[in-house]
Amino acid sequence: MNTDYRYLLASQVTPKSQSFFIRTYGCQMNERDSEKMAGLLTQIGFSNAMSQDDADIIIYNTCCVRESAEDKIFGHLSYLKHLKTEKNFILAVGGCMTQQKNIAELLEDKHKYVDIIFGTANRHRLPEFIWRAMNSERVTDISEDETIFPEITDIPVTTRVFSHKAGVNIMYGCDNFCSYCIVPYVRGREKSRPVSDITEEIGALAADGVKEIMLLGQNVNSYAGDATFPKLLQFVNEIPGIERIRFMTSHPKDFSDDLIAAMRDLPKICKHVHLPLQSGSSRVLEDMNRHYTKEDYISLALHLQEAVPEIAITTDIIVGYPGETEEDFQDTLDVVRRVQFSSAFTFIYSKRSGTPAAERTDLIPRKTANERFDRLTAELYPIMTKKNEAKLGRIFDVMVEEVTDAHKYKGRTNDHTLVHFTAEKEFSSGEIASVRIDTAKTFYVSGTVL
Ligand code: 5AD
Ligand code: SF4
Repeated sequence: MNTDYRYLLASQVTPKSQSFFIRTYGCQMNERDSEKMAGLLTQIGFSNAMSQDDADIIIYNTCCVRESAEDKIFGHLSYLKHLKTEKNFILAVGGCMTQQKNIAELLEDKHKYVDIIFGTANRHRLPEFIWRAMNSERVTDISEDETIFPEITDIPVTTRVFSHKAGVNIMYGCDNFCSYCIVPYVRGREKSRPVSDITEEIGALAADGVKEIMLLGQNVNSYAGDATFPKLLQFVNEIPGIERIRFMTSHPKDFSDDLIAAMRDLPKICKHVHLPLQSGSSRVLEDMNRHYTKEDYISLALHLQEAVPEIAITTDIIVGYPGETEEDFQDTLDVVRRVQFSSAFTFIYSKRSGTPAAERTDLIPRKTANERFDRLTAELYPIMTKKNEAKLGRIFDVMVEEVTDAHKYKGRTNDHTLVHFTAEKEFSSGEIASVRIDTAKTFYVSGTVL
């Protein structure tokens, strides 16, 4: 962390008259990174602008996991190019998309209106980059320093999006190199934070009123700090003030019996696991370099359901991976039926340059992939509805997330089901409401406070 630049920049900022706006794409880790960048800039003296049109500094924290994410970002950038002809502001683009060398070069050469191009591993240097841009320098820097964590910890915690819940990175990067995935190339090798750093950060969040923690990492269950992941869960479980602990994402190949036992025994660990399947075909899984078979996945899921009754298992599934046959796809549908997922993120395969799958020529026609996508959701949605219907008439502890209208609230059960409810009594976010469920839909349930 370069404190000098924070100081330099602070001396150039007129508090409250200079503002920033951060737009975040992609996963929860990007959201957490954005919160930290916002904290950093608030500490320096910038204020948070209500919209990008009002901001003096616009920061795009980008994603590149799927091609559609990149297309969307370039679409928004062309609007900003136009905005630059009307008003003066600093435009910084960072994150996973710009961490790709070819994209950083493209932005540098062809998108001259972008003032700062930074990466995933050097976002803590944002004050330096902004200071340089304010002093008329165009900055492109996607360098990585493997020896340090790009962690920003000494920031005001008040910049979080939610007051009652927060994500905490426990590890960075990914070593798995799934054949279709760009993440290992833009987020680097796995690095786990020490237990004491993690528990200190969570302790500070708890002191600030946070009740729910999401432990974040590309592959949290391969956490290799100075304790195992189940042991880390035990430490976090002991932190006073924290009521619910979640974690994502888990890789099926690293899901140990100790972790299942921790989920069963530690009272604050939520009964929900996000366990990406990707494909139900053992042949495709091998192609994807996933290191488990269809049978391994099913047996893990059944084991979890047996050990932790009422656990919700959610997943990610890709259809149309190169070479995927109808039989392979039938295997995916079969796993969906047997595991009974509570919810799933479904994707059509898209080529990511630089990954092994991008070399494949046995691509699935778009029409077939679209059809499989629709058949997959047609299988998933009734299962999700049925899971929600099983909650009808029952009473759940719902942690309030937000007030949506007068006497109307939105919250989550322990197993992460989204609940809309009404109540005469006033609730604030983070409070637990006891809600009886009286309507079940595919993506949420509704109820009334007793
Ligand atoms: N095409 C489609 N989906 C992808 N994902 C990752 N890479 C690709 C790709 N190239 C999906 C995976 C992963 C989720 C975050 O995004 O399912 O788990
Ligand atoms: Fe990508 Fe696979 Fe790593 Fe997940 S585990 S981030 S899909 S390479």
